[in-house]
Amino acid sequence: MMNLRFIFILSLLCFLSIPLFAQQAIIRPSAIFSPIETKKAMVVASDPTAVKEGLKVLKKGGNAIDAAVTMAFVMAVTQPRAGNIGGGGFMLVKQKDNPVKAIDYREKAPEKAFRDMFLDKNGEPDSTKSQFSHLSSGIPGTVAGMALALKSFGTISLKEALKPAIMLAEKGFPVSKNFSWQLNKREAALSKWPATKKIFFKPDGSVYKQGELFIQRDLAQTLKRIAENGAKEFYKGKTAKLMVGEMKRNGGLITMDDLAGYQATLREPIAGNYRGFDVYSMSPPSSGGIHIVQLLNILEGYDLGSMGHNGAESIHLLSEAMKRAYADRSKYLGDPDFVKIPFQPILSKKYAEKIRSIINLSKATPSNEIGPASFPGYESFETTHFSVLDEKGNAVSNTYTLNFSFGSGIMVDGAGFLLNNQMDDFSAKPGKPNAYGLIGGQANKIEPHKRMLSSMSPSIVLKDGDIFLITGSPGGSRIISTTLQIIINIIDHKLNLAEAVTAPRIHHQWLPDLLYVEKGLSPDTLDLLKKKGHIIKSGLTMGAASSILVDIEKGVIYGASDPRRDGLAMGY
Ligand code: GLY
Repeated sequence: MMNLRFIFILSLLCFLSIPLFAQQAIIRPSAIFSPIETKKAMVVASDPTAVKEGLKVLKKGGNAIDAAVTMAFVMAVTQPRAGNIGGGGFMLVKQKDNPVKAIDYREKAPEKAFRDMFLDKNGEPDSTKSQFSHLSSGIPGTVAGMALALKSFGTISLKEALKPAIMLAEKGFPVSKNFSWQLNKREAALSKWPATKKIFFKPDGSVYKQGELFIQRDLAQTLKRIAENGAKEFYKGKTAKLMVGEMKRNGGLITMDDLAGYQATLREPIAGNYRGFDVYSMSPPSSGGIHIVQLLNILEGYDLGSMGHNGAESIHLLSEAMKRAYADRSKYLGDPDFVKIPFQPILSKKYAEKIRSIINLSKATPSNEIGPASFPGYESFETTHFSVLDEKGNAVSNTYTLNFSFGSGIMVDGAGFLLNNQMDDFSAKPGKPNAYGLIGGQANKIEPHKRMLSSMSPSIVLKDGDIFLITGSPGGSRIISTTLQIIINIIDHKLNLAEAVTAPRIHHQWLPDLLYVEKGLSPDTLDLLKKKGHIIKSGLTMGAASSILVDIEKGVIYGASDPRRDGLAMGY
């Protein structure tokens, strides 16, 4: 049951988000607060400019894929902390009457990368090297991914998709309060590199303030070259040369051959069934889909709905299930082009039943008593998500990232874009945690041309073949648990989309043995959880789930941007 404190916090969040929803919100008396409602199409993202540009594409007759690619390039300009051309990600596409497909445009390790490249002289991981140096970057995948998306499923050219981004980079846009705040927060890291400082700070070194115009001339030139010459400009042309020059001057590894050899890949998504809904999410090299489906399989055996949303009993079950899934993640997940992943056993309903049989309903199992399962025959904080649905019934769920906020903080001098620090998502030393505290195994060790393991989980849920839910989230290791909770908040707890997206979330990733909770849970619930043996860490904000839900019977489309970021949901 929702208690008073929870209702108070949701109401407060609702009040704070009124400016975002004011234009189109329809507030129904029965709801704590309500999503945007439209009839034909919807776009939701954490960046209002990208949403407006995506919507223009749809209104001009473009499809969801055209809109999504346009938005990805716009966010490379307007939200450079996560939007990017120097990073990578994953896209799920559902075309009307066609199966769900996945595009993997995750970064790859360069040819010269090697297993122990991030260990210091004592054999311990050196996080400065893996997170804030030229060695931190994988070969970027976004430009190849967007080109592949358009070629496979789009109707407009790359040149057309780049137009709004070029205009915004060239003419500039007024800095938002949040953008200015982010620059302030990362000032030290971003000022360290002269090329970055030159772009992100004013000539006198001060931070752009809210309302001031932010122009990115080098980035505009780079985007124009890509528009003229196609994706090959980024991987073989002047942009590639600028990237390699940046690497050579600073001890980085990425070469012209690495860039020329990079390809985005079409993959089959992970598919599962949860209480009659078909759930699709990203396949490896993301761990997201496999563990979301594993967790749903475990939870399907419990009547979560009758336990009440965010009650101690349901949080206990979520947490116990998550510990087992993240333990398996640590051993078995990696790039499927390099390691054999035990898909079938992890995704089987039988394995879920086995996990249920060992979950103690009244006591938390300490993480040190849990480890990855053993399968016979088997050997071995800053991202952004957006969702698009067009009037023809095509859907895109896209999550992409530089890894940290503003990636490594390193700008390609002369090209105007930031480089990712995704190499930190490899296990620098199996058994030692990365920046998200995630433990990885041999399956995720560094190897040339390998993709580092991700948690990004762009997801699409179908009901009888029709689009029901489009969702996903940023949040590093918390992406999996956030996306899972959006799905169960809707299917089990019958929250409307805005409530499902806004409600306080929880997270457990096996190690460290901590149950993370957002603000807004009742102290009584937390006491009950402590009595069951959970060690609680509260206060952390988790994810930002820009989501779309379709009420197929009523023919209504709902959109909800997450109030944890200053996003927007708009449609028509
Ligand atoms: N860099 C975060 C992730 O890929 O999960």
